[in-house]
Amino acid sequence: MNTLLGGAGATTSSPGRSMPDQLGETLAIRGGRPLSGRVEVKGAKNLATKAMVAALLGHGTSVLRDVPEISDVNVVRSLLEVHGVTVTEGDEAGSLVFDPSGAVSAHFEEIDAHAGASRIPILFCGPLLHLLGQAFIPDLGGCRIGDRPINFHLDALRHFGAVVEKLPSGIRLSAPDGLRGADISLPYPSVGATEQVLLTAVRAKGVTELRNAAIEPEIMDLIAVLQKMGAIISYEPNRVILIEGVDHLEGYDHRCIFDRNEAASWACAALATDGDIFVGGAKQQEMLTFLNVFRKVGGAFDVREDGIRFRRGGTLKPVVVETDVHPGFMTDWQQPLIVALTQADGESIVHETVYENRFGFTQALNKMGADIVVHPHGLDRGPRRVPRRELEQAAVINGPTPLHGAEIVVPDLRGGYSHVIAALAAQGESLVSNVGIIQRGYEKLFSKLDVLGADFDVVR
Ligand code: EPU
Repeated sequence: MNTLLGGAGATTSSPGRSMPDQLGETLAIRGGRPLSGRVEVKGAKNLATKAMVAALLGHGTSVLRDVPEISDVNVVRSLLEVHGVTVTEGDEAGSLVFDPSGAVSAHFEEIDAHAGASRIPILFCGPLLHLLGQAFIPDLGGCRIGDRPINFHLDALRHFGAVVEKLPSGIRLSAPDGLRGADISLPYPSVGATEQVLLTAVRAKGVTELRNAAIEPEIMDLIAVLQKMGAIISYEPNRVILIEGVDHLEGYDHRCIFDRNEAASWACAALATDGDIFVGGAKQQEMLTFLNVFRKVGGAFDVREDGIRFRRGGTLKPVVVETDVHPGFMTDWQQPLIVALTQADGESIVHETVYENRFGFTQALNKMGADIVVHPHGLDRGPRRVPRRELEQAAVINGPTPLHGAEIVVPDLRGGYSHVIAALAAQGESLVSNVGIIQRGYEKLFSKLDVLGADFDVVR
């Protein structure tokens, strides 16, 4: 217990063995042991990478603190560098300093080298158009969890006056007459498209009104970053955001909001393995919806000043959950939750309403002994909070089913983390391959697992 709530053992670096921070490709995991101890979560992937792009808009240097050491951050750093932004380590651990004074158009080959690596490059459009009058965006990457179109982004940019040219290798944009404020109504409160509008509107001429905006805490944190830079952004009722464009923005000094996706992942790991995990840096406000579901499933948590402790409060119970935009239950939380639901007593249903293909990871869970049936076109059962979306799917999980070791391949970031947790909850040994992908969003995963008492080796 002492190691849970502080003290010498309460760090994410193990005194026992030295863990490479770079993930290998395959892990041999011997499961059946509860994960217990303390891990720290740093800045949110889904804010840090956007705040890094915002640095392009400033006239001075920007400092971002609590930046997670993940590969998505490396991709954005490298893209900023090919555009002439100098990126250096700051005065405190985990901080980065951005100096955009030498920003230039990058060579096609340099940008293209980042094709397929991440979805963040699409957010460079607005800042580059303001700075250089043109932008080239390579083919995007990110997790394969659906079509992931960018039509909302491109439509919004056209509203600002950008000319969009689709090429076989990517998208070229120009703004011969500069960008001007626009009235934009998103067909769906997309996180990325809302960020696109914010990053473009802050320097556009005139006022932008964005309706049906996403209001995730990471977006509010991005608004805080932009306000520090000199932007004028107000948040109105009913998902409306008003942005008054300004001529000049300065740099910022900002500490990233914590990664609530990672915090929820560790919480589910405690449930699935019957462990006891204190997540340093986790905060209650941004996790209210998650915590309600966690409690309904039979989890217990204690909120403290420096983090939240998660464990089982008794037998796990089935739940019906619908993923949704904020303040709903995040689509990034359902994967580790489903691992825990395989151990709940009865039938759970998870409706995925955000992405059309985010249950691929359940095949591996079934291989390990779970009983999960995916309904590719959704289920109409029960009263719903979220109006049914055309693209939605549902997973019906019948538990409890003991899990056993298996050979499994990680399909995507959140699914991959869930595979690792399932292998840790399962009896026997699992071989989990393609784990490198998890490094896109989980910092120091090996060290953290080690601290929590996981029994595993990197085999290749
Ligand atoms: N959509 C469109 N057209 C668009 C943009 C989105 O149809 O132009 C659709 C998507 O296909 C999807 C829905 O709108 O069905 C929601 O997509 P959204 O734009 O909100 O997601 P995103 O910005 O691409 C971010 C996070 C995701 C997270 C979602 C939802 C980043 C880099 N990614 O994606 O995070 O799941 O918001 O909260 O911020 C992850 O961390 O594992 C991850 C996938």
